[in-house]
Parts: sequence; C-alpha cells; structure tokens
Amino acid sequence: MGIILKTPEEIEKMRLTCRLAADVLDYITLFVVPGVTTGELDRLCHEYMVDVHGCIPATLNYVPSRGYKPYPKSICTSVNHQICHGIPGDKPLKNGDILNIDVTTIKNGYHGDTSRMFLVGDVSIQARRLCEITFECLWLGISKVRPGGHLGDIGNAIQRHAEKSGFSIVREFCGHGVGAGFHEDPQVLHYGTAKSGPELKPHMIFTIEPMINAGKAAIRQMADGWTIVTKDHSLSAQWEHTVLVTESGHEVLTVSPGTRRPPDGIE
Ligand code: MF3
Ligand code: CO
Ligand code: CO
Repeated sequence: MGIILKTPEEIEKMRLTCRLAADVLDYITLFVVPGVTTGELDRLCHEYMVDVHGCIPATLNYVPSRGYKPYPKSICTSVNHQICHGIPGDKPLKNGDILNIDVTTIKNGYHGDTSRMFLVGDVSIQARRLCEITFECLWLGISKVRPGGHLGDIGNAIQRHAEKSGFSIVREFCGHGVGAGFHEDPQVLHYGTAKSGPELKPHMIFTIEPMINAGKAAIRQMADGWTIVTKDHSLSAQWEHTVLVTESGHEVLTVSPGTRRPPDGIE
C-alpha cells in the first residue's frame, strides 16, 4: 500500500472528524460511574455520533480482515484486564474499575480515532499509576513526531518508559496510518529501536495507541472473537491520539475542550 501523504483538503477533513471523536469522549465522561453498563455507554455514544455529529461509528460492523466476524458495537470498552476491542455489554461497571473507551468516527469519509482511560470511583494506587505511565508513554511517543525522525523513535521512547516503570508492552497490536481508511500503512509499533523504520514526512497522519500491561505482555483472545485480555489477568491501560506530521513537528488532531494536557515537560 505505502504511506499516504494527505492533501491540505484531506487534512482539514481529518481535523474535523478527529475533533468530533474527541468530543464523543468528552460527552461520555459524566456517564462513566459505578452501575452503568458498557452497553449503555455504547448506546449513548452511538446516538451522539449519529444524531448530534452526523457521523458514522467506524467500528460498527467493521471487518478488519478475513477470519473476523463484524464488530457488533459503535465503541470499544475494555475493562481492567481487557487490553483492547472489548465489546460493550450488560455488565455494570463497579467501583475501582479502570476502562478504556475507544471511539472512531467517520465524517465526510475520513476517520478520527482516539481513546482515553476512565477511572470508576475509587481506584487503587497501582491501577492509577498504570494509567498515568501509559499516558506518559503516549506523549513521549508523540514528542518524537517530526519530519526527519523515524517511526522507530516513537516505539523506542514508549518502550523505554514502560519497561523502566516495571510494565510490559503489548506487541500484537499497534498504531496505524488513518485517513479515508480506518487502518492504513504504516504500522506504528509501541516498541523498537531509535532511528529505525520509515522516515517521518510532513502530511503523514497516524495513530499512537500504546497498550501497557501491569504484568506480563502475553495476550489471549476471548471466545467472542474480539476481546483481547492479558493472559496473566493483570491490568492493562491504553491511550490513543491521531497525529499529523507537520512541516516543523506535529499536530495532535484528536483534541476537544476535555482533552488532557500533555504531562509536564512534554510537548
Ligand atoms: N479503534 C481501534 C483502533 O484504535 C480499532 C477498533 S476495531 C474494532 O485501532 F473493530 F475492534 F472496533
Ligand atoms: Co487506532
Ligand atoms: Co482506536
């Protein structure tokens, strides 16, 4: 396929769809409380995306490749030891849970992809630390995005911070180019070697979405064909932004009023 450099018109469309995706996460935040089911969160996000934003939820009926059955919901909700692609259902959230909500919009044919961690009620210090370190990993990766840099710089920065903190990186899933396609080239690994891989060029757009486990890196797929969990049942966290390579550095596209600022000292 090759990495698609986006035109100025495409970049404008990406700014819009990405802002809407982030806005969905702002909207759902107040509903994430003990007792709510992930199915209810899905229903609320679906209605907001379709009725308020005029978007198509990209995950609904999505078939990434052969062997997958269509994804049945409009968002992904991954709770505690679930790493990613958790399917919303009728189980209520409980005090102390951590969960990732991952939203992908399609607006005017273009995809905006972002996810955040949510803390339900009083969360253990260990779980909060995992969420914070993972957020720092995302931003250390973003801080490497500039023309002339390499894709491997991103993974290297993420891996070093996660492993220094005693956590492990999920290898089987990665960030990805995004645009008219949901998952385009390149694959953005969350581990690797600095100065390796393709050179970053202005007008590339891709996601960075590290999945970090408190325990071992090994994963397992659930019988639903989608949900990915840690094999050792340790907690897992993930944050995701869609990022544009600019002439001088980067622009994070998945921003909204409720988007968290980068950690202190990182830009
Ligand atoms: N939004 C996820 C990503 O960041 C992909 C979800 S695909 C689904 O790439 F089918 F599981 F929804
Ligand atoms: Co993504
Ligand atoms: Co996503």
